[in-house]
Amino acid sequence: MAMSRFHEEPYDAGTLTKLKIFELYAQAWIPVFVSQPEPPFREVHIYDLFCGPGTDSVGMPGSPLRILAQLRDYQKAGKAGWSKVKIVAHLSDEDEAKVAQLAETLKASEWQIPGVQIETKAITFRDALDLHKNVLTNPRAAKLLIIDQFGVDEVTDDVFKRLIIFPTADFIFFLSSSTLHRFRDHPAIKIKIDKPENSYDVHRAAFDWFQKLAPPSVFLGRFSIQKRSNIYGLIFGSQHPLGIHKFLQVAWSNDEIAGEANFDIERENISPGEMMLPMQEFRPKKIQVFEADLEAALRGGRMRSEADLVHFCIAAGMTCQHATPVLQKLKSEGLLQCKFRTPDARRTREPRPIQLISL
Ligand SMILES: C[S@@+](CC[C@H](N)C(=O)[O-])C[C@H]1O[C@@H](n2cnc3c(N)ncnc32)[C@H](O)[C@@H]1O
Repeated sequence: MAMSRFHEEPYDAGTLTKLKIFELYAQAWIPVFVSQPEPPFREVHIYDLFCGPGTDSVGMPGSPLRILAQLRDYQKAGKAGWSKVKIVAHLSDEDEAKVAQLAETLKASEWQIPGVQIETKAITFRDALDLHKNVLTNPRAAKLLIIDQFGVDEVTDDVFKRLIIFPTADFIFFLSSSTLHRFRDHPAIKIKIDKPENSYDVHRAAFDWFQKLAPPSVFLGRFSIQKRSNIYGLIFGSQHPLGIHKFLQVAWSNDEIAGEANFDIERENISPGEMMLPMQEFRPKKIQVFEADLEAALRGGRMRSEADLVHFCIAAGMTCQHATPVLQKLKSEGLLQCKFRTPDARRTREPRPIQLISL
């Protein structure tokens, strides 16, 4: 499909998976900043910088309406922090007609959300980054950036380097197959990919590429989406363990085999939702390897606190819930003591200790 006609057709299954991930992440992100009676930030800004007109050709909601729907639902939950925070949704796209169509849709009463300021603007992604520079670089404002670019690679290395230093900002960007092919042909990456036609490895290689551009203090995550024979990718970034942990929870809720794709990325010849055995009996390879590694690290005394555990899980692309069975096993063997069943990604600054008992 020609890119200019993208919104004149129904979204395909791969696009719907992508939109679901954006929406689920927004759903997990919003409460962190507006649920507490004393919210951590006085300003919350959500940016959808490739927002499109709001729907596809058959009225299926796109990213801006999904983000707003999450804000609307959370406002209705009536949490104490909501009214204490300035909440702004910045919806922009370079296409004036699409922005005008979205603005028209948003006049309906269902989109008048108390406490939410909605700003629509026809502007390119790069100009928007410059326009919003003051907020994006303000450490006292929480930000979420949804970057749903087309096949053109708007997130260049330089743009990526800007994104990762915005303080208190989480971002998700889409990588299309044309961008992935650029990675495939990159000399530094080509060497490491045995079969360059293998799209699975290309997305991993693209992720590794961005990982090398980021300092260790930045947490990155990925999710691969198969659209017919093409592989597309989402790359997530955050400077906070809680941000990446929430992304991993969303990823695992979409892929209970490996937490990283809407297809069988680990070559176990099964796809999420197609399993013969219930999850308790089927142990995906990635989970087995993680559990064995974690058990060895705990037995070896390398995990001293809850924070060590959280970082171990994140580095393996696992959620903190995945550590629970191993902790339970070693506790029941009398090998270790700790006051939690599951490590909490919100407690990395005040972690609870883990004590290894020598028998
Ligand atoms: C994949 S579509 C986004 C779809 C949208 N998120 C949705 O859910 O319907 C990409 C959008 O990016 C816009 N676009 C393309 N290049 C752009 C740029 N440089 N800056 C801003 N918007 C751009 C296009 O007009 C198009 O609406």
